[in-house]
Amino acid sequence: MYTSNRLFQFEVVGLNPGSTAQTQSCSVRQSGSIFITVPYARMNQEMRRISRLGGTIVNIQPLDGQRQPTASASSPGSSTQVSMQPAPTQQPQGKIHPKSEDTKIPVNTYRPKTPFIGKCLSNEPLVAEGGSGIVQHLVFDLAGSDLKYIEGQSIGIIPPGTDAKGKPNKLRLYSIASTRHGDNEEDSTVSLCVRQLEYNHPETGEKVYGVCSTHLCNLNVGDDVAITGPVGKEMLLPPEEDANIIMIATGTGIAPFRAYLWRMFKEQHEDYKFRGLAWLFFGIPYTANILYKEELEKLQQEFPNNFRLTYAISREQQNAEGGKMYIQHRIQENADELWKLIQQPKTHTYICGLKGMEGGIDEGMYSAASKFDVDWPTYQKELKKAHRWHVETY
Ligand code: FAD
Ligand code: A2P
Repeated sequence: MYTSNRLFQFEVVGLNPGSTAQTQSCSVRQSGSIFITVPYARMNQEMRRISRLGGTIVNIQPLDGQRQPTASASSPGSSTQVSMQPAPTQQPQGKIHPKSEDTKIPVNTYRPKTPFIGKCLSNEPLVAEGGSGIVQHLVFDLAGSDLKYIEGQSIGIIPPGTDAKGKPNKLRLYSIASTRHGDNEEDSTVSLCVRQLEYNHPETGEKVYGVCSTHLCNLNVGDDVAITGPVGKEMLLPPEEDANIIMIATGTGIAPFRAYLWRMFKEQHEDYKFRGLAWLFFGIPYTANILYKEELEKLQQEFPNNFRLTYAISREQQNAEGGKMYIQHRIQENADELWKLIQQPKTHTYICGLKGMEGGIDEGMYSAASKFDVDWPTYQKELKKAHRWHVETY
């Protein structure tokens, strides 16, 4: 129970110290953070005021005389340090993140009528022996184009030829798997992670292959590829370097997360030094289907305090009920820690991959939230409003 005179400490960045005059008490640290003490009864009012003044609440902790340990910028990776307190309200806290903080996000530089014709620089298999299906990592040369993009965006690919009605094939979207700097870090390439669509025709039983995914998976080095875009603002990373980033992927849904992880850990550019916690849940059928396995595990070994990697290998591992291990079961297993993280205003959750996974994730989150007497659908709505819940499924 929270009594109205119980005190909480807000850690706020982006506020001018003068603007805290109205608060009960505050102190400014060298880091630039302002610490404001707020009674429970005034929390919502104070959050709104901070947001109005352009500040971001990066941490909230109860002041019990005995301080609760919390996740902090100096120890971001140790999620066991997150406060055990339930949320004082059922509303997610913190700043409403605009979808695009940066007005310079490139969009539709190339449209379907005038695509950029790039060249295939490489086309490598990502599925090891014994895995299921074909998934390729493709790199295209953008030299001579104006095509710039940022992590979390997609590009369109127009396959050659015509459709069943004799009209030119339409573009298909693919999540970009490289950072803005490209795999060669020369700002001149874009990478994709493409699964060849293959299914049996429901009536004839005949094997059918997807038009565009087959075109891409069969490209030879030097072949032309018609590229449009970039598009998408749903899956952009927040600019805060101490954000927590929860990533939930199935199959090729790993693509944007590869870009995030390279930006966070591998590239270490001057303009972005990630200090938060990144936690990837990755659902795949077999170990041989763990796309980018070596890269992921290397990053995990190099950054054990900031990067957690949790696989759900559906056809090799079993859930608690003896069924297939899906990512939602991993979410349930880690419900307490995840719930504590998700409540922090600096935590963003990203979901990418199979459309069918959304229902399962909701079930997992529902049971995680219920443990703390929180109604997940209501809470999720608020997270979406705050742009802290990002979904791209297909
Ligand atoms: P098509 O020839 O267009 O065939 C698709 C059609 O086949 C479907 O519309 C459906 O009618 C039919 N079909 C499919 N499966 C079955 C089935 N089991 N039974 C009966 N009919 C079926 N894909 C990736 O591989 N990697 C990515 O990173 C990626 N990112 C995406 C990002 C976004 C934002 C979106 C919207 C999609 C993304 N996709 C991605 C999917 C991609 O756009 C294509 O949809 C996919 O490659 C299939 O295109 P295709 O041309 O090969 O198939
Ligand atoms: P499975 O195919 O064993 O049912 P890929 O794209 O490489 O096939 O990987 C997709 C992964 O997502 C597989 O492990 C697949 O399991 C799993 N999957 C399929 N349907 C769902 C679902 N509704 N929720 C979560 N995971 C799913």
